[in-house]
Amino acid sequence: MKIIVAKDYDEMSAKAAELFIDRINKKNDLVLGLATGTTPLGLYKNLADAYKAGKVDFSKVSSFNLDEYVGVGHDNENGYYYFMYHNLFKHINIDLNNVRVENGLAEDLEAECEDYSNSIKAKGGIDLQLLGIGHDGHIGFNEPSSVFSKGTHVEELTQMTIEANSRLFNDISEVPTRALTMGVGDIFAAKEICMLVNGKGKAEILKKCLYGDIDPMVQASILQLHGNVTVICDAEAAELL
Ligand code: F6R
Repeated sequence: MKIIVAKDYDEMSAKAAELFIDRINKKNDLVLGLATGTTPLGLYKNLADAYKAGKVDFSKVSSFNLDEYVGVGHDNENGYYYFMYHNLFKHINIDLNNVRVENGLAEDLEAECEDYSNSIKAKGGIDLQLLGIGHDGHIGFNEPSSVFSKGTHVEELTQMTIEANSRLFNDISEVPTRALTMGVGDIFAAKEICMLVNGKGKAEILKKCLYGDIDPMVQASILQLHGNVTVICDAEAAELL
């Protein structure tokens, strides 16, 4: 595992953008795994700027997002498709037919999950997976559990995650309690993984994830077993390493 400590959020985002641009420039039909949340916003801004400056071409790139809330459609401003469209997709030349976010409105959620994992495999798997980490060690919406999940599935969100995500809603009662998420198996199958972590509040969980036991109670700890992971964090998150 490679760990890069950047001095602050901006440097972390710039270094992550360098990595993404390098991989896309080496393989123009790269399959990306993408994340939402606050952490990747700087990376997405850097990628949009690089596209505008002619440094990267997304026309053949495809992407799968980690997760989406159950009951939330593509045009819902609290949803993750909406987030991706407004923070990245509309600023670059990615073909929207090549981007996929789980359908939170699917009538048959099980079928949607199965199709999602199968579609990732049909694309040849994810080349480069972006991750953030939750305060409880979740990746995607894979919450602390007695097992590591395999494929895309419906997850009940913990109170900690609901509270953390309520900052993006008018009221905590509006935060959905279930989400569709890629499984840890889907994530682990990625050829390369880049995890971004910033801020003091993530220092404790980052230490557990990198140096603690490999334990499904800290889902991100499984990354210790993956052969091609780069963690890019800022100095605050690296404080306890
Ligand atoms: C988002 C996702 C989550 C976030 C994590 C950290 O698609 O899968 O695992 O990466 O909750 O969120 P932020 O970046 O908001 O701290």
